[in-house]
Amino acid sequence: MALYSEKVMDHFRNPRNVGVIEDADGVGEVGNAKCGDIMKIYLKIDDDIVTDVKFETFGCGSAIASSSMATELIKGRPVSEALSLTNQAVAEALDGLPPHKIHCSVLAEEAIKNALDDYYAKHPEKKPQAE
Ligand code: FES
Repeated sequence: MALYSEKVMDHFRNPRNVGVIEDADGVGEVGNAKCGDIMKIYLKIDDDIVTDVKFETFGCGSAIASSSMATELIKGRPVSEALSLTNQAVAEALDGLPPHKIHCSVLAEEAIKNALDDYYAKHPEKKPQAE
């Protein structure tokens, strides 16, 4: 079996949503100290919907494929779904990652969560209230 799925190779070769959103509502950046890879996610949010999302990833092919897939999974979706996106969901949508590359999908989950934290820090009134 090939080490990487067709989907990983596709998103690595043709990453979706690469770039910067200048007037982003939330920006999240994370890095992995061991491999040195860095991922940055930009979110545009209107009416609790992620209307646009872009990423810049300085990292391995799996990190690029994970960022690309993660942005596809949350684009056009409610903020609540973006908040609950897991790295497992990203890896599954890519038809799996090799075990030693799972941390690359974790970066995508963390970058999105950081971007949403940034959004809530700028717009505290949007933060869901605890029951
Ligand atoms: Fe670190 Fe892929 S090797 S993000």
